[in-house]
Amino acid sequence: MKTLKALLFTTSTAALLTTQCFAASPETQALYKNKCVACHGADGSASPIGKKMGAQDFSSPDVMKLSDSDLTDATTKGKNKMPAFKDKLKDSEIKDLIAYVKELGKKK
Ligand code: HEC
Repeated sequence: MKTLKALLFTTSTAALLTTQCFAASPETQALYKNKCVACHGADGSASPIGKKMGAQDFSSPDVMKLSDSDLTDATTKGKNKMPAFKDKLKDSEIKDLIAYVKELGKKK
């Protein structure tokens, strides 16, 4: 019985870990929350302030058609009212954030 319980526990933990592998890491989600949510909103659909500055929903066709390098450039160098993050974030962090942005864009 003990073994069965242990086995069940291991399987459910493994399942949990696997699902998390596909989603953004907690670090990336925390970065997004700290640096991006104010303008882009938790779900990427842009906050009222972000919208006023011209931010679009990440799931809009205009954003979805942009390439990874376009999105990375916008985040690294800034774009119109979008601030540049090259001095604030590491390249690897920006890369993870772009993957997260694309994930948010796909969710609807
Ligand atoms: C001060 C508000 C603000 C913050 C903070 C902000 N953004 Fe933006 N972002 C904007 C605006 C405004 C645009 C639209 C720029 C344009 O196209 O004129 C934009 C555009 C973008 C784009 C390009 C998509 C597009 O619409 O062209 C990406 C990708 C992006 N932001 C990612 C991020 C990430 C990642 C962060 C956090 C590290 C972040 N932004 C933080 C305001 C912000």
